[in-house]
Formats: sequence, structure tokens, C-alpha cells
Amino acid sequence: MDSVGETATGTGHRRRRVLFFPLPYQGHINPMFQLAGLLHARGFAVTVFHSHFNAPDASRHPDYSFVPVPDDGAPPADSPADAVQATVEHILALNRACEAPFRERLAALLETARRLGEDVACLVADTHLLALIGVARGLGVPTLALRTGSAACFRLFKAFPMLCDKGYLPAAQLDAPVVELRPYRVGDLPSAGNAARLGKMREVLLRIVAAVAASSGLILNTFDALEPAELAALRRDLAVPVFDVGPLHKLSPAAASSTSSLLRQDRGCLDWLHAQAPASVLYVSFGSLANMPAADLVETAWGIADSGCPFLWVLRPGLVRGAPPSPKQPPPLLPDGFHAATRGRGAVVSWAPQEEVLAHDAMGAFLTHCGWNSTMEAACAGVPMLCRPCFGDQMGNARYVDHVWRVGVELDGGGIERGKVAAAIAAVMDGAGGMRRRALEMKRRAAESIGEGGSSSLNVDKLVSLIQSLYV
Ligand code: UDX
Repeated sequence: MDSVGETATGTGHRRRRVLFFPLPYQGHINPMFQLAGLLHARGFAVTVFHSHFNAPDASRHPDYSFVPVPDDGAPPADSPADAVQATVEHILALNRACEAPFRERLAALLETARRLGEDVACLVADTHLLALIGVARGLGVPTLALRTGSAACFRLFKAFPMLCDKGYLPAAQLDAPVVELRPYRVGDLPSAGNAARLGKMREVLLRIVAAVAASSGLILNTFDALEPAELAALRRDLAVPVFDVGPLHKLSPAAASSTSSLLRQDRGCLDWLHAQAPASVLYVSFGSLANMPAADLVETAWGIADSGCPFLWVLRPGLVRGAPPSPKQPPPLLPDGFHAATRGRGAVVSWAPQEEVLAHDAMGAFLTHCGWNSTMEAACAGVPMLCRPCFGDQMGNARYVDHVWRVGVELDGGGIERGKVAAAIAAVMDGAGGMRRRALEMKRRAAESIGEGGSSSLNVDKLVSLIQSLYV
């Protein structure tokens, strides 16, 4: 490609270009492409830098330019079995591997833009691409950091060293409150269960917060009515502007998530859903990274079977612990007798069009790992959640679902056991204690935030104005 620019149809004016660099994991790729879609619809040209690992399919985004940046291609073969440690190690390895080639490619892009008189505004990068944010700033490119988790979670990132210094971590008592960050408990903090990885976690979080502080702003996929106190605290404590522009999947052009999906979404399950009664189906999915011991899968399966309700279950390859996540791997096996016990009332797929599934009339409740995208998608669809968090920010998200928003319950942490799973499913499907009413109210407030004059709509306008004022 010899041009980095394009001409806005009919106006004769060159579009300003915004560069994007997502962290190459599904839960980070989706919101980055949603944001790119949103800014493209507001008149900006889009260039996406990406690693070879989990590279996007450029043919699904004909309006964007893509710049591949070589990395090591995949998580190292000797990566730790522990999902958190493996992910943290891989993120650091990606930062190291991409640093020099990204510098080279970004410099070349800027040179071409200069030569052609084209206008590059800034780079929007995932907060976890901390070294690449530094590279861009070193080349004089203003940066905006997209954090794909909640505002509460970013507050926690900022407070993490202080919490370690105060002795919360390594964790002595998992159910003790974190008084500086209510409603978190010690067990909700990342790495609470693993003292060995605390040092690395502290270092990474410090670097992430520093990368945000050196940027021109922080973009969050959340909305004011969901996290008013957390957003106010961030605005007080950060020296850079904070833009809560969520729910991004509702603001961006309709197909953004399905086009950024790394796995093929099985749309056949929508036909199955059309045949189910309203609010009758339990949707079960643990996102793209979480895994569980084989014994937990068996207990979860029998809990679902014993609940007696219709279900749609995403059994993703790699869901069972010990096996590296790979699209080539067969989906995990369900226990003997499960299919016979649930015949006629369940559908199992290896990947679903989740946003459409959650928004379907048949949806009754969501058994989820509480990844932030899943949490937002369920909240915006008014679907009550049964939370079974696994790692990272998921415990904290589950805590907010259960304790603050009260639109779901957390599965008892004392071990996954079929009787408890079945009872919890029944309670959430029932919408017990006003849960469904609150979930529907949350859906209404999410819609309000992106409507005319809503908090997120106004923040998108502010973000667009800021980007228009940025120059390389
Ligand atoms: C990861 C972390 O686990 C999560 O906690 C963090 O907040 C973001 O990064 P992931 O585990 O994949 O993400 O969960 P989540 O944030 O829920 O994102 C998964 C995305 O995949 C969602 O946008 C969801 O709609 C999509 N998805 C999931 C599908 O398209 N089909 C599926 O079958 C399941």
C-alpha cells in the first residue's frame, strides 16, 4: 500500500487517520474493533497494527488498512500451565517481540504520510501493550489507551502496589474486605491465590498505569450509570481525561463483533433458540481463555442436566485445564449419559454469536466466567448472571454483579458441585429476589447512556473532539 490515507466520499477532504493496536486476545480484540468501527463511522480513517498471533482477517474489514507486526507467533511452548501466568508471560513476550518491528513500521507509515501530506492523529493501543505505547510516544505519536475491563478494575490496577504494601497480598484471608476498595474482598484481587506471581503482577500493573499516565487519555468500555463512583475516583486520581464510552458493542456498527471473532460462530444455534419459549434458556459460556479442571466440567454438566432447564452451552476447545487453547483441539467431552439425560432440551456449540444469543427473547440466564465483555453484553441485554469467575478481573466483576448491581449470584466458591450448580441455576432462572427486574433496569440505563444526550454519547463526542485536536 503506498498511501495511508483515503478521501472522504463526496467531500474532497482527506480523512484524519487513527491507528489502532489491539492486544491479540478475543476479549481485547472485540472492544478495539468496536471502537475502531465507531470512530470510522465518525469520519476517521482506520489503520490496524496487529501481531501475527491471532491476526485479524483483513478481508472482513475492507475499509481499514492493516499492518502486520512480526512477533513470536504464539505463546511460548514452555508457557506455564497456569492460565494467568501464561497470559502475563505472553503479554510481556509480545511487547518485547513487537517493540522493534513496530517502531520500524510505524516510522515507515509516518514517513509515507508526511510524503503524501496525509494526516495521522494518534494511536489507540490496548493498555497491556505498554512497550508499544512507549514506542509511539518516542516517535511523537500521541497515544490513547483502551482498557477493556471495568473502571473498578483499573482503579484496582492503580491501587495494587499500595494493597501489597499494606499486606493484603500475599493473601492471608481470602474473604477479608479490602477496605480501601470496597466491595472487593482479598480473594477478588488478581493473583490473590498465588504469592509466587505477585512480583511480576505488581511490575506489569505499575507499567500499565504508567503507560496510561503518559497517554492523552484513557478509554473505558463502561458507562456512568454502571460505575459512577469508580469513574469519579478515576477522574480524581488520574491526570489524564477518562472517556467511558460503553457499551461499545451497542455503539459501534452492528457487525463489529462478529467480524472480529477469531473462531467461527455457529449461527445454527440461533435457529434452535427461535424454537424456545421466552426467558426459558440458560446460556453457558466461559469466554475465550478461561479453563477449568475436568472434574469441574463434569459437575457443571450434571448441575445443568439436573436443573431441568433448556440450555445452550459453548464448549470451546481448550476449556478443560491442562490442554493448551488451540482451535485445532477437539471440544471437551461431556460425561457419559449427559446427552441421554438432556436429550431434546439442549444445544452444544464450540463458539456462538454471543451478542445475538444474549439479546434473544428466549434468554433466561447466563452461566458465565464474568469476563468484562460477557458481563457488559449480559448487563445490556437485561439477562441475570450466574457467575463462575476463573482468573484476573473476573472475580472482581462477579463481585459487582452479585453484590453491587445485584443482577446475578456468584456460585459458591467452596468447590463446584452439581447440587449447588443446579440450585443456583434454578434461583437465577427464577430471577429470584428482584434480580430480573434489576437486570432489565440495567438494560434500560445502558440504552439511555448511548441515547441522545446520554453519558457515553457525550463522551464519544468529547473523544472525537480530542482526537481531532491531536497531531503527530
Ligand atoms: C479476557 C478476560 O478473560 C476477561 O476477563 C477480560 O475482561 C477481557 O479479556 P475473555 O475471557 O475472552 O476475555 O472474556 P470476555 O471479556 O467475556 O470476552 C469474550 C468475547 O468473546 C465476548 O465479546 C463474547 O461476545 C465473545 N464470544 C464468547 C463469542 O463471540 N462467542 C462465544 O461463544 C463466546
